[in-house]
Amino acid sequence: MTQQKLDAEYWNERYLSGRTGWDMQHVSPPLKAYIDQLADKNIRILVPGCGNAHEAAYLLSAGFANVTLIDFAPAALEAVRKKLLPVAGTSLHLICENFFDVHSTFDLVLEQTFFCAIDPSLRPAYVQHMHSILVPGGRFAGLLFNRDFEGGPPFGGTAAEYKFLFEPFFHIRLMEPCYNSVPPRMGHEVFVIFENKMH
Ligand SMILES: C[S@@+](CC[C@H](N)C(=O)[O-])C[C@H]1O[C@@H](n2cnc3c(N)ncnc32)[C@H](O)[C@@H]1O
Repeated sequence: MTQQKLDAEYWNERYLSGRTGWDMQHVSPPLKAYIDQLADKNIRILVPGCGNAHEAAYLLSAGFANVTLIDFAPAALEAVRKKLLPVAGTSLHLICENFFDVHSTFDLVLEQTFFCAIDPSLRPAYVQHMHSILVPGGRFAGLLFNRDFEGGPPFGGTAAEYKFLFEPFFHIRLMEPCYNSVPPRMGHEVFVIFENKMH
């Protein structure tokens, strides 16, 4: 549990003051590799807590036609709007809201330093909400830390904790040490593919 209130104001201020050390400036290599093997470009993809949305830029350049981004920090989404909307047109949907208040339906969610950014007390709610917005059989894919941090965000975790949290709602298809992390995160992430169970 953190003392810091991790609300939209907190995150917006991080963007406005340029304190965005998590931002890799490019698509995460493990997610790029995952995206590259997706055949159907029409699936409904969500990137929650998208920040500067490098994954979305890659998805759009690869021809994906239905990409939704959620972030409750207006400064982040405004920058994304300027950068991506002119090239994306109707393939891109931007939602500036709290993730927990969005009730659309998706086939695939891509996770990249969003789970680790929320207060750990919200993790069960995160998993249940993810379960409710994915279609049965839909996939949750991406990166979760397998290390601890002092303080936070980011907040760390373990594969055992993720199994405990997700398994009631998802089939764990893959959860393995990530072999193609960016150098600062190498050895500290698992790549996961969880398949949504029936509602
Ligand atoms: C650590 S940043 C990661 C941004 C991006 N995924 C990346 O890897 O560069 C976490 C992001 O999640 C957003 N966020 C945190 N809690 C949120 C919530 N409850 N609803 C929507 N966005 C949230 C923050 O505004 C921030 O942009």
